[in-house]
Amino acid sequence: MNEVPPIPSELITRLRAARRVAVLTGAGISAESGVPTFREAQTGLWARYNPEELATPEAFRRNPRLVWEWYAWRQERVRQAEPNPGHYALVEMERHLAEFILITQNVDGLHRRAGSHQVLELHGNLFRAKCCDEDRLVEGWPESSDIPPRCPHCGGLLRPDVVWFGEMLPAGALRSAEQAAASAEVFFSIGTSSLVYPAADLPLIALRAGATVVEINPQPTPLSPQVTFSLNGAAGVVLPALASQIWEIGK
Ligand code: OAD
Repeated sequence: MNEVPPIPSELITRLRAARRVAVLTGAGISAESGVPTFREAQTGLWARYNPEELATPEAFRRNPRLVWEWYAWRQERVRQAEPNPGHYALVEMERHLAEFILITQNVDGLHRRAGSHQVLELHGNLFRAKCCDEDRLVEGWPESSDIPPRCPHCGGLLRPDVVWFGEMLPAGALRSAEQAAASAEVFFSIGTSSLVYPAADLPLIALRAGATVVEINPQPTPLSPQVTFSLNGAAGVVLPALASQIWEIGK
């Protein structure tokens, strides 16, 4: 998994010429930071925890304390993690490209911590909370023993600002992501199983619009047969190698 797969010279040529690049990331890009993915057989969160008990609005209504504490545990794991060379290579890409957008399904905030600016978070962020009753973001709340804490404005329960199964994605972020996919010359799908919609549609939108679509993943996914280039390897190895070949970064 630590080997750099051959990078086709045609991909390098197309990336050097590209002005508009969009990237979609999933849990796999944070795997090398020690943040667990969801669907991997032994190590994925959904192999150990039941999403129906933890990641749906019904689960929160049934047992808000359990759900809040599970997200607090995930927050703690992410606090102890650091961005990895894959995250940093995407920061370099943003610096070198005229138009670059990073669309992520991850809620860990590691792209921004690494220094990426143009980030669209499709599934929310672990480190934000919102009021269940008023659906507004809440920055802070008074110290108390309530779990979950209460909204300082209306007293409603607070919940993590993440998208749960059965919920809509933030409309503005999704629209911007779809526009970026439709106008990208090169589109990357990195570290995602390509199973969760509507995010999994984005590379297909890019393909239909004629983009070069590149997948970076050590494992094949349902998207693999359709992409222009498949780079089978770990994001933290492949992305720095790609960046160094295109822009001579790190040489
Ligand atoms: P998954 O757990 O479904 O997929 C992770 C992917 O990362 C797999 O295809 C792995 O092969 C790949 N992978 C593992 N290590 C990697 C590495 N070092 N470099 C590159 N790829 C690697 O995670 P997602 O596709 O992100 O949604 O899951 C999508 C959504 O499903 C998540 O956002 C989450 C989950 O339920 C919500 O919570 C709303």
